[in-house]
Amino acid sequence: MRLLVTGGCGFIGSAVVRHLLRATVHEIVTVDRMTYAASEEALEAAREHPRHRLIQADIADGARMREIFLAERPQAVMHLAAETHVDRSIDGPAEFLRTNVMGTFSLLEAARALLAAAPELRGRFRFHHVSTDEVFGALGALDPPFTETSPYDPRSPYSASKAASDHLARAWFHTYGLPVIVSNTTNNYGPWQFPEKLIPLTLINALEGREIAVYGDGSNRRDWLFVEDHAKALVHIVEAGEPGATYAIGARQERSNLEVVQAICHALDRLLPDPAGPRTRLIRFVPDRPGHDFRYAIEPAESERALAWHAAHDFERGLALTVTWYLEHRSWWQELRARRYGGERLGSAA
Ligand SMILES: NC(=O)c1ccc[n+]([C@@H]2O[C@H](COP(=O)([O-])OP(=O)(O)OC[C@H]3O[C@@H](n4cnc5c(N)ncnc54)[C@H](O)[C@@H]3O)[C@@H](O)[C@H]2O)c1
Repeated sequence: MRLLVTGGCGFIGSAVVRHLLRATVHEIVTVDRMTYAASEEALEAAREHPRHRLIQADIADGARMREIFLAERPQAVMHLAAETHVDRSIDGPAEFLRTNVMGTFSLLEAARALLAAAPELRGRFRFHHVSTDEVFGALGALDPPFTETSPYDPRSPYSASKAASDHLARAWFHTYGLPVIVSNTTNNYGPWQFPEKLIPLTLINALEGREIAVYGDGSNRRDWLFVEDHAKALVHIVEAGEPGATYAIGARQERSNLEVVQAICHALDRLLPDPAGPRTRLIRFVPDRPGHDFRYAIEPAESERALAWHAAHDFERGLALTVTWYLEHRSWWQELRARRYGGERLGSAA
């Protein structure tokens, strides 16, 4: 297949592109605007690859997307480009609406224009919209996890913009017959994640002996999926998913934020003991994120059955790989810390 991947220089998109090049024979065109969150290094192996090309473009530029779709004639689209950091969405929601809502709209329209111009593509064509479990809102401690049929209840500017894009994608399926597939996934972690998100930010602060901020009392819970497991699931979905279907993807690895932070400290202490003492001494409880959802979790049984996929890494195994990866790729994140984001608090709505 000829696949168009949006956001392929981001954290999950680059894992998808690397997996596609390693494990399939598909041709890949990556479309990425190269925002602060993009990293060409994450696609190093793809740079010279004969089956891969990178086009720098903004998905919210409708005319440009239409032009790219008509020129490249992809047989499937994997749409991952987005603004993704909840804290940044609190400080500046406009960019989230522009990219996540208008960007998704312009891609859906470009796909529709492509199928009108090339009806022979229609039978195989898929538009895979990659989304998050945050669109379902917050679970209480005893609620059952989200599934494919959970009602929408987004509560942050980020999750509201993703929910809007999910609704647009499904509307284009029902109204225009565009073969759309949606997947909603739990929190990802692993190599190449921009050091603003909980796991890499904590890891780097702990390594540098800086304070480790934990929002509120650290009891908020997330369900963690190793990024390479997610990338494999996404490729299964674009290859074999049903148009109109939703896939809930997760690994049943719920942890409280405090447990995650402590696990990172313990993993670092084992690999690289700090003469000043255990790194948990650096933990500081700070005022909570405004509107902080208490808990997200996904029950992936239905998707595991439909896709013959399940996550290969539990949290402890995935975290050990992640910690080792960050220790071995210091120059990558040191450059980002120096030039793009130094680790200061974002999203306090102050
Ligand atoms: N990270 C997670 O835990 C998680 C969980 C579930 C779903 N998701 C979804 O998966 C997708 C990828 O997430 P990620 O964590 O890899 O994000 P990321 O922030 O690491 O990367 C996003 C990529 O999109 C690109 N991009 C942003 N705006 C663009 C625009 N206007 N035009 C073109 N490219 C643009 C960026 O340059 C970057 O390369 C997103 O849609 C996100 O909502 C993420």
